[in-house]
Amino acid sequence: MSRRRVFVLAAILALGSASGLALAQNHGHAPARHGPAAPAQDTRELVAFPAELRENTLANMRDHLLALQEIQEFLARGAFDRAAAVAEQRLGMSSLGPHGAHEVAKFMPSGMQDAGSAMHRAASRFAIEAQNAGVTGELKPALAALAAVTAQCVGCHAAYRLE
Ligand code: HEC
Repeated sequence: MSRRRVFVLAAILALGSASGLALAQNHGHAPARHGPAAPAQDTRELVAFPAELRENTLANMRDHLLALQEIQEFLARGAFDRAAAVAEQRLGMSSLGPHGAHEVAKFMPSGMQDAGSAMHRAASRFAIEAQNAGVTGELKPALAALAAVTAQCVGCHAAYRLE
């Protein structure tokens, strides 16, 4: 059996036992509280955007994820300038103009605005580190800066959701 098939099989088995666990817990009297089979109560703040802005924001989010993938691929190929360009133009300070960030910002609670700004700044810092890596050949600072970008995605997603 190929390694890929072994992996898929293992994933299916893991899922099966996780859902079995959820069922078992639901039959008990104590409410399930911990672990992936029993997700914690959703405490994210609900944010209301006008419908069109919501659609645009989610499409923009999907492009954020695509940008991260492209950045990782460019880093793996040693194409540091291209990784930097994707980060700056699609996630960094330069991305603010085309996506109407000011339009969106007024519907965001201040903590969400801060997370957005922090992400844009982190992406621009990553772009600089990626360019540095092109000169020094030292990848670690760029990878750390990329993790700082992802941390902002994670932080905002943990705190807010759209209505
Ligand atoms: C300022 C807050 C914020 C930041 C920063 C942020 N997101 Fe989001 N993102 C959201 C919210 C809010 C949603 C909607 C979540 C919900 O309603 O459950 C979302 C949804 C998404 C979705 C789902 C899109 C869909 O079609 O449903 C993806 C993918 C995503 N974000 C990727 C990213 C990535 C990758 C980053 C970082 C590079 C990022 N986001 C940074 C707030 C943010």
